[in-house]
Amino acid sequence: MKIESVVLMLCAMVIAIPWAQSVSEGPKGVEEWFKELPIKKQKVTKLHFYFHDTTTGPRQTAFQIAESNISSTTVTQFGRTFMFDNPLTVEPDARSMRIGKGQGFFGAASFEEPRFLMNLNFVFTQGKYNGSTLQFLGTNPILHRVREMSIVGGTGVFRLARGIATAQTYFLNDTSSIVEYNLMVQDKIKVMLRYVLFVFDIGNVFIIESAFIIGSTSRIRRTPKIL
Ligand SMILES: *[C@@H]1O[C@H](CO)[C@@H](O)[C@H](O)[C@H]1NC(C)=O
Ligand SMILES: *[C@@H]1O[C@H](CO)[C@@H](O)[C@H](O)[C@H]1NC(C)=O
Ligand SMILES: *[C@@H]1O[C@H](CO)[C@@H](O)[C@H](O)[C@H]1NC(C)=O
Repeated sequence: MKIESVVLMLCAMVIAIPWAQSVSEGPKGVEEWFKELPIKKQKVTKLHFYFHDTTTGPRQTAFQIAESNISSTTVTQFGRTFMFDNPLTVEPDARSMRIGKGQGFFGAASFEEPRFLMNLNFVFTQGKYNGSTLQFLGTNPILHRVREMSIVGGTGVFRLARGIATAQTYFLNDTSSIVEYNLMVQDKIKVMLRYVLFVFDIGNVFIIESAFIIGSTSRIRRTPKIL
């Protein structure tokens, strides 16, 4: 009975330990991070920044890498694809503080309207997000007032992230655009709170104890060693 009580106390203590922000890197660090997932709290992060896309001139950051043989004859430039390394800033002004880069490609993916496939990484370079990334994927009908796209993953402080990005054009002409982004990002997987009833049978006495424990449905599968 004493041992069980100690176990319960330990459970309660583990739940109460606050989780530190730092992440250790490398395969070992990631493995440890996964093991501790059940006691980590999920967090929602709100991010706001401006994305600068320039396709000509001395400050060009987006370059055409491909097109189809109908790109130049269709009004939507179907198939024209750009790879870019675009600055992300805190204000619409390109000279304002830079918090990272949007790196990836977009390509015209619709016959009917100007609509792009967006496939990129937000690579952050400031403060506690420095070195962390978010993976962004979606369809972008650029003339719509608000476009909604997905955050499908993350690294660093954004490990196992999921989220929604909304894009609104702040400025647009033939050669450059400034797009305002608002991101709502949930990191880690959802952890469940489970209520567990312990029943101990000691001689003729039944002892019933209960506890809330935090568990998760995920398990790490070890990859088999290749010989
Ligand atoms: C585009 O290329 C395909 C084959 O790759 C060809 O069949 C088609 O006729 C071409 N279209 C135009 C408009 O050149
Ligand atoms: C971000 O991290 C890199 C690599 O660790 C470091 O060189 C750089 O100084 C950091 N930048 C800021 C603004 O903290
Ligand atoms: C688009 O706007 C940028 C930034 O104001 C400017 O440098 C560029 O010349 C403009 N391009 C056209 C085609 O008007």
